[in-house]
Amino acid sequence: MFIKHATIERNTILLAALTLLTVAIGGLVEIVPLFTIETTIERVEGMRPYSPLEQVGRNIYVREGCYVCHSQQIRPLRDEVERYGHYSLAAESMYDHPFQWGSKRTGPDLARVGGKYSNEWHVAHLIDPRAVVPESIMPSYGFLSRKLVDDSDIADHLRALRVVGVPYSDEMIAAAAKDLRAQADPEADTEELLQRYPKAPIGDFDGDPARLTEMDALVAYLQMLGRLVEFDKTQPGGLRQ
Ligand code: HEC
Repeated sequence: MFIKHATIERNTILLAALTLLTVAIGGLVEIVPLFTIETTIERVEGMRPYSPLEQVGRNIYVREGCYVCHSQQIRPLRDEVERYGHYSLAAESMYDHPFQWGSKRTGPDLARVGGKYSNEWHVAHLIDPRAVVPESIMPSYGFLSRKLVDDSDIADHLRALRVVGVPYSDEMIAAAAKDLRAQADPEADTEELLQRYPKAPIGDFDGDPARLTEMDALVAYLQMLGRLVEFDKTQPGGLRQ
C-alpha cells in the first residue's frame, strides 16, 4: 500500500490526474443532488417585491452605509433567535439587490426591526441616536429630514430591478410614482397600493405630511423589514415542494 502510494507521489502527472479524479467525484456527490430539487429557496407566503417608497428607503440605507454596522441576517443560533426572532429565510432576501447579510454587527441586526418601534421613535433616533439611547455610538442622520425624495427615475428603477429578476408587473411600474407618494400621504387612497404591496406600512413617517423626504422613505423601509413572510403559514425550515 505505502509502496504504491510512494509511486504515485513520485509521479507528478499521475498524482495530478488522481487528485483531479478525487476532487471531481467529491464535487459530483455535492452538486448532482441539487439538480433534483426545483429550488433552493423555500416557498413562503407573503414575500413580495418592495414598494417604490420602501425601495427608495432601501437605496438610502445602502447609500448611507447602514450595512457597515448592521446586518440583516438572523442566524439559526439560539441566542440570536431569542433576541431577534425567527432566523432569516433565503426567501426573505430574494428581492434584495444587493443583499444585506453579514455578521459584522456594531449595532443590532435589523432583519426584523419592522414594527418594533413607532415611526416617531425611528425619526428621533435617526436625528439624534443619543436622544433615545444615551450610550449609542450610531451617527446622526438628521439631514435625511431635509432632503426631498427624488422620484424622477423611480419607474426606471423598478424596470432595472425587473431585469435582474424582481417580478414587478407593468401595472406596478406604471403606478410607481403615484404609489411612492401615496404610501407617505395619510390623506391618499391606498387601496390599490395595498393590493399591489400587501402589508406596506402607510402614513406620514417623518412628522411632516406636506413633504416627501428621505426620512419618510428610510423609516417606511425599516418598518417593513421582517414583516412580510407569514410564519404561521410557513413550515419552519422546510423546502415545500
Ligand atoms: C457606526 C455604526 C452605525 C452605523 C453606520 C449605523 N448604525 Fe444604527 N445602530 C448602531 C448602534 C451601536 C446601535 C445600538 C444603539 C442604538 O440603538 O442607537 C444602533 C441601533 C439602530 C437601530 C435600533 C435597532 C434596535 O433593534 O434597537 C436602528 C433602527 C438603526 N440603528 C438604524 C440604522 C440606520 C437606518 C442606519 C443608516 C442610516 C444606521 N443605523 C447606521 C450603529 C450604527
